[in-house]
Amino acid sequence: MKWKKIGDILIVDDKFSGSENDFESIASKHNVKSIVKIDSIEGQKREPTISLLYGNDTETIHKENGCLFNLDLSKVMWAKGNNNERLRIAKLVKDGETVVDMFAGIGYFSIPIGVHSQAKQIYSIEINPNSYHFLKRNIELNRINEKANYDRMIPILGDCAIEAPKYSADRVLMGYVKTTHHFLRPAMECVKDGGIIHYHETVPDKLIETRPYERVKEIAWECGEREVEVLNIQRIKRYAPGVEHIVLDARIN
Ligand SMILES: C[S@@+](CC[C@H](N)C(=O)[O-])C[C@H]1O[C@@H](n2cnc3c(N)ncnc32)[C@H](O)[C@@H]1O
Repeated sequence: MKWKKIGDILIVDDKFSGSENDFESIASKHNVKSIVKIDSIEGQKREPTISLLYGNDTETIHKENGCLFNLDLSKVMWAKGNNNERLRIAKLVKDGETVVDMFAGIGYFSIPIGVHSQAKQIYSIEINPNSYHFLKRNIELNRINEKANYDRMIPILGDCAIEAPKYSADRVLMGYVKTTHHFLRPAMECVKDGGIIHYHETVPDKLIETRPYERVKEIAWECGEREVEVLNIQRIKRYAPGVEHIVLDARIN
């Protein structure tokens, strides 16, 4: 059985089977109030369906990389295996940058950037009202605007295809998979000359070095004959057999 503790809730995998008594002893061993199984995460808004195996509360506060994340596991997802990437991005952000997070969720990337970098302005766009609710909570919980004394992180409820082009960013985060390439045009309209796009893709192993770059290059060229300089291709995790979740860091000139 694989498990992961999110705040004071234990997430177990499909292989978990047990009786009521087992749940109680597992909960006490791991010091959690609830045990849940994530049955599926569906659709554009990444909405979970869960089974609550023990306890009756699915809301918690999770601590990761020195950041606090308030979330309800029955309403919003938590991506296991992305923790290193969430911190890597925060450490790349330079002082004074404007960052647009196109798929902000509950602040998976935005909050570490707010906590660990000296970004001047962070626009966090999210389409799912449940995630947006927790995004706002997490900005407060981590006291990001309070510490800066101005609205340094601005949550935006909406579709990034419409919202992102309204801003001009040094860095654009595209932390979304499956159809991310459909959003390259608004990302390109948002990123400044010399700015960086972090473009996520789930890609078959043999295409890792080519397809993400080709997709970014094609849209960059269509959007004013812009040039793409690949800075890094980061492997995040195994997505499916033979398919890797990667992020391409690309400077757009
Ligand atoms: C859940 S995050 C991905 C997880 C994240 N990469 C991590 O490391 O944990 C993706 C978010 O993008 C949001 N989303 C999807 N389409 C969107 C759109 N067009 N505009 C804004 N947000 C969108 C989803 O609702 C979801 O909250």
